[in-house]
Amino acid sequence: MNNEVRYAREGRTGVITVNFPPVNALSVAVRAGLLEALEAGLEDADAEALVLTTAGRTFIAGADIREFGKPPQSPILGDVIARFEASPKPVVAALHGTALGGGLELALGCAFRVALPGTKLGLPEVKLGLLPGAGGTQRLPRLAGVRKALEMITSGDPVDAAEALELGIIDAVMDAPSALEAGLHFARQVLAEKRPVRPARERSERIAGTDPTLFAAFREELGARVRNLFSPFRCVDAVEAACTLPFEDGLKRERALFLECMASPQRAGLIHAFLGEREVAKVPGLPAGTPIRPLRSVAVIGAGTMGGGIAMCFANIGIPVTLLDSGREALDKSEAAIRRAYEGMIRKDRLTSVEMDSRLTLIRPALSGQADSEQALAEADVIVEAVFEDLVVKREIFARLDAVCKPGAILATNTSTLDVNAIAAATHRPQDVVGLHFFSPANVMRLLEVVRAEHTADDVLATAMALAKRIGKVGVPVGVCYGFVGNRMLHQRGREAIALVDEGASPQHVDAVLTGFGFPMGPFAMNDLAGLDVGWRIREERRKAGDSDSLPVTWLDRLAEGGRFGQKTGAGVYRYEPGGHTPLPDPAVEALVEEHRHARGITPRPVSDQEIQERCLYAMVNEGARILEEGIAARPLDIDMIWIHGYGFPAYRGGPMFWADQVGLPGILEAVRGFHDRLGGTHWRPAPLLERLAAEGRGFRDL
Ligand code: 3HC
Repeated sequence: MNNEVRYAREGRTGVITVNFPPVNALSVAVRAGLLEALEAGLEDADAEALVLTTAGRTFIAGADIREFGKPPQSPILGDVIARFEASPKPVVAALHGTALGGGLELALGCAFRVALPGTKLGLPEVKLGLLPGAGGTQRLPRLAGVRKALEMITSGDPVDAAEALELGIIDAVMDAPSALEAGLHFARQVLAEKRPVRPARERSERIAGTDPTLFAAFREELGARVRNLFSPFRCVDAVEAACTLPFEDGLKRERALFLECMASPQRAGLIHAFLGEREVAKVPGLPAGTPIRPLRSVAVIGAGTMGGGIAMCFANIGIPVTLLDSGREALDKSEAAIRRAYEGMIRKDRLTSVEMDSRLTLIRPALSGQADSEQALAEADVIVEAVFEDLVVKREIFARLDAVCKPGAILATNTSTLDVNAIAAATHRPQDVVGLHFFSPANVMRLLEVVRAEHTADDVLATAMALAKRIGKVGVPVGVCYGFVGNRMLHQRGREAIALVDEGASPQHVDAVLTGFGFPMGPFAMNDLAGLDVGWRIREERRKAGDSDSLPVTWLDRLAEGGRFGQKTGAGVYRYEPGGHTPLPDPAVEALVEEHRHARGITPRPVSDQEIQERCLYAMVNEGARILEEGIAARPLDIDMIWIHGYGFPAYRGGPMFWADQVGLPGILEAVRGFHDRLGGTHWRPAPLLERLAAEGRGFRDL
């Protein structure tokens, strides 16, 4: 028997234990071990029943994701489950932690299932672009009913043990010291009562007579939510097969659909996104075991929208935060906004009012310069500065922090554009200074760019990455440059979006192509949401500074100059009905764009969808290649995670660099060269890294 799965006996019950940290994934060794252990249990004359359990923090969390994309190795999971289901001795699956994907499918093939309270059970394959491919789509509807199975399988969201019991997915919830003890106890009951076994495959009462129109209606619901995704619709096909075909034929249909999903680029993108989210936390060059500084109290300077959102992030995990501002009015406004945000969560059932109250008591507003705020600064482990973008002001604040903060405190700036090295240089402790670039709304957006400045100490970087994880963010380490990674690439996409409208496209056409690609919103709708004044001020500053990469004044600047700041003023690139958020085309904008074209002597021309997509996205890829070359991002996956978690890049495309590899770098390079010849501009000069990889027949994945 192998190391991953062991067999032993406890009294009259044989125990099969999977031990494959961290999450007992069903690798080929585990699958083989399960068969061997089952065989041992069946041969053991003293074992009358069997318990399937796992060591460590969780039951089996699914198939081994790292094996995907490689040729399948036997035994395949479906065959293992069939053997468990056919076992002449009753097998009790004893669940704790999470029973997910193939793990739950294996449990569904067992005669009985018992779980510790709080266990989560689910079929999350759809989140990886797959469907449950080892009988889950055939057995779950037979146990939980068709509608609930469709919901669970197409959302991928788990249910907890109590709900699973109610739904008929498990047979008991037992408050035992361990899953093993719960399983043994249940097995004794089964033997004592001589409880009959009814395998899931034989239960047809919940699928018989299913209304065939249910599936069409469900597909329509999905169309409204996830129209661009492939696998949710295949999940429905598979569940439909459970209701229309005999069990074995249903399994075959499920397998065929599973293989279709496995071959889809969406599966590759989503698994890259899943693994990338975990990989990104492992910073290259940062020694494992780098000590982490304490995080017991936080001070946030600046009670604007950003500051308030940042304060919420810490209060949400029980860390007291002092929110400082020089104006009483700003503090009052911020307090009200924080309360409103929490009340919104209560309305969506994401928070209770008791939880809101405890979080609100953790956020203490304080006027800067007063004794209590000075004391809070002196005691804080982490100070996050979130005032407006002005280098002089930020440097003054950091010089003051240097004077009042305790040794070892982490001094963080939330700047999105300024030089973190220059900010750090205002202190005598640049090793303690780091950038924490939150994205608005800070309490919602998952991305946190962790800016490592020239002198940032290793343990400060390690602490900042750990802090990101604790507050539920995806922390991505980046270096210092204008706009860091995300905004620097966004700048290039924005430049092309504006130019495409100059040349003849409409803003709604540009937006439609990018939402068609999978972004939740197009660049212009996003400008309107963020506020046109924000981008306009930044562009003005860059023009004044004589920045070679700055954009000439465009129709977008003219809109902002005219007070059209976007959704907040009811008009921007689009117009909005009072209180509405739906972007509506505005003839006034068309006229202004037309005027702008006329003044610049441009004759508008038809612009194709393909040109819009290529110019907006290849400009980003080319810039991403430069970012990698300069070491501002260490790995392509860092860029991918930034764009997925901060800018709505569709996860099923894996992020811009992963997507570029899928498109093929030689084709992208050729297009970039073409744009450079036709349009000019230093930004279209092909990045040397892109040229090199394309010439060598390699991709970003090979770096
Ligand atoms: N296969 C391989 N490795 C896995 C894995 C899996 N199914 N699930 C998690 N891991 C790895 C992670 O990559 C991570 O590795 P690292 O330490 O090297 O970075 C480690 O396990 C710990 O994972 P998390 O950091 O995510 O730990 P958490 O405690 O936060 O979460 C979890 C645990 C809830 C199990 C979460 O990891 C998870 O959701 N895993 C994916 C579950 C899943 O999607 N299962 C379905 C797989 S597809 C399938 O079963 C197909 C079948 O139908 C045929």
